[in-house]
This record gives sequence, structure tokens and C-alpha cells, in this order.
Amino acid sequence: MDVQRLDRFVSSQMGEISRSAARDLIKKGGVEVNGAVERRPERRISPESDEISVSGAKIEYKKHLYIMLNKPAGVVCATRDGLSRSVIELLPKNLIRAGLFPAGRLDKDSVGFVLITDDGALAHRILSPKSHVKKKYFVRLKSPLSGDEEAAFAGGMAIYGGEKCLPAELRRLSEKECEVILCEGKYHQIKRMFSALGNEVVYLKRTEIAGIELDPALEEGRARELSLEEAAKLTL
Ligand code: URA
Repeated sequence: MDVQRLDRFVSSQMGEISRSAARDLIKKGGVEVNGAVERRPERRISPESDEISVSGAKIEYKKHLYIMLNKPAGVVCATRDGLSRSVIELLPKNLIRAGLFPAGRLDKDSVGFVLITDDGALAHRILSPKSHVKKKYFVRLKSPLSGDEEAAFAGGMAIYGGEKCLPAELRRLSEKECEVILCEGKYHQIKRMFSALGNEVVYLKRTEIAGIELDPALEEGRARELSLEEAAKLTL
């Protein structure tokens, strides 16, 4: 069973509290373990079986966080970026904790669903092309679709630089709009696939990851935790 120091637990579960602030809070008597005030930051606790309260409110233990963010354009998929705002900086206070990172990247000018987590094993699994986890995108193009794209995408195209893509699905929606489903994530992949066919992507939005749809009620720039049902789809 996972056993850890009380100060580490408090700061990891309460995003806005640093380790030293957690230590001060504990020393001042603000933290209870199983109903009794505990002033020793080094006290070892078991998150699964001990009940920890801060200022009288029980901490709901979550081993990992799984967050859906609707990324706006102009924000980078990185933990930190010296120049541009990163997706992590868009998270509300209650969803911030150490170790969060975007599981999969969208380009700076792309928008839509970014999954943010601190679960490295899960991120590795959903990003590995071997896992065949599907990601769906809405694409708007500069020029009309020619009709040859479905077959080209399904056949596993070669893109600039000699890379070969896994078979992908394309569904035409209108003259210049389509949905694309990939089970891998090469750098600028969709843009390079259309570029290889003489077209250009003018708008790109990720709408689904692993069968979890981007919540239509989630405005650009907003984030929320996945529901239990949504999170269960990641482990299938
Ligand atoms: N393909 C791209 O070209 N860009 C993205 O952001 C995602 C997929």
C-alpha cells in the first residue's frame, strides 16, 4: 500500500498549497488524521485507509487526475514555455497539482481536446501507436476535397520527410470540411498528410480521444475533470 509523509500528501492533493505551506499548516494544527490533530509533517499516512481533513474538510484522495481541456489557439502543449502560455497555465486552481502534463500534443494554432494528467503509465499507453487509441479531428481545408483522400488516408500515406503513416480514416462532411481519425500522433501529422495531397489545413480541432468526446459545453480555455465513465474509457 502507498504510504507517504503527511506534508507531501496535503500539498499533492491541494494544488495551491506548496510543501512548505503544508508543513506550516500542519504545525499550526490545521490538519487532522482520523479525527485527531496531527502537528508532525513527517507523520506517515496511508492515503487509502487514513482520513485526512484540512480546516475541518475531508480531503478526497485521488491518486491521479484526468483533465479535459478545450485548448484555444495560441497556447502551447507543454508544461512550461518561456514565451507562450502553456495548457497547464490555463488550469483552474482546484485542478493544479505537481506532475501534470499534456498527454499528447496539439499544435499552437490547433484547438480542442487536450488530456492532462499526472498518470505517466496511462499517458504512455494512449500515446503509443501500438495501442491504436483513436483520436478524432475536425478539419477545414483551403481547397475542396478531391475525393481521393479517403483511399490515400486508408492506405497509410507517406508524408514529407519519408515517414509512413498508419492507416487513417477520413469522413467527408462538406466540400472543404472533414473528420479525420488517427491512431498515432506524428508531428504536424494531419497538416503534412493534406500537404502531401496538395491541400492545406486552415482549421484543426481535436474532438475526441479514446471514445471520449470533447464536452460541447466546455468553452475554449476551460478545463474539467473527466467523469468516472469517461476515465473508464481510458483504461479499456
Ligand atoms: N495534426 C496536426 O497537423 N496538428 C495537430 O495539432 C494535430 C494533428
